[in-house]
Amino acid sequence: MTRRKLIAGNWKMNGSLATLAELDGIAAAAKARPDIDVAVAVPFTLITPAATRVPSLSIGAQDVHAADSGAHTGCVSAAMVREAGARFTIVGHSERRADQHETSQDAWAKATAAHRHGLNVILCCGETEAERDAGRAERVVQAQIEKSVPENATGDWLTLAYEPRWAIGTGRTPTLDDIAAIHAIARAKLRALIGDAAAQVRILYGGSVTGDNAAAILSTADVDGALVGGASLTAAKFVPIIEAA
Ligand code: 13P
Repeated sequence: MTRRKLIAGNWKMNGSLATLAELDGIAAAAKARPDIDVAVAVPFTLITPAATRVPSLSIGAQDVHAADSGAHTGCVSAAMVREAGARFTIVGHSERRADQHETSQDAWAKATAAHRHGLNVILCCGETEAERDAGRAERVVQAQIEKSVPENATGDWLTLAYEPRWAIGTGRTPTLDDIAAIHAIARAKLRALIGDAAAQVRILYGGSVTGDNAAAILSTADVDGALVGGASLTAAKFVPIIEAA
């Protein structure tokens, strides 16, 4: 079963019109690798200028509201980001779970809404350090997947991202064996939920991926790409990860 690798950047609450110039180099590196997919999730305000500047690059949002419209001050719907030029959205990121108290059920509703509006979805899961220390990482990830993966999901639109919270922005990463173990468990859980379609769903690893560790992580069993935060903010740091895929 061949799954195209996906290298996705998540700019989080970073970037400006000036830093969109970084996308030029990222788009050029993506063009040089037609065998893989490259995508960047930018802040809402940068979706249209980014998608306009680099039409060849898949630009996405970092979140959407589960409702299509309504009295939700400060929120943005899937239809809105789609109209702005996004081709995908991240949902269920651990920073939204921590900062906005989002649940796996919320991630399910957001993923479902995003798909209804034609967006691809990167659905995040991952344990905290306390959960890993307590030997609960596998059960936590299984439960998150069970509650958040839409029952009609296919690899055509859904990508899973395993991002252990303690590895995000810390410079620490799990061992390659630990990554492989969680990815295998995640795929088994997907298979239990959506059957044969699970074989086509990409599972990304995220958390302190850099040009230095990308080659090893990306050649680990069942790792179909990376979701990259800090190292996606500049072409100088992101392009080596694209090249390592
Ligand atoms: P870092 O690559 O900065 O650790 O962030 C990972 C992440 O949260 C991507 O969504």
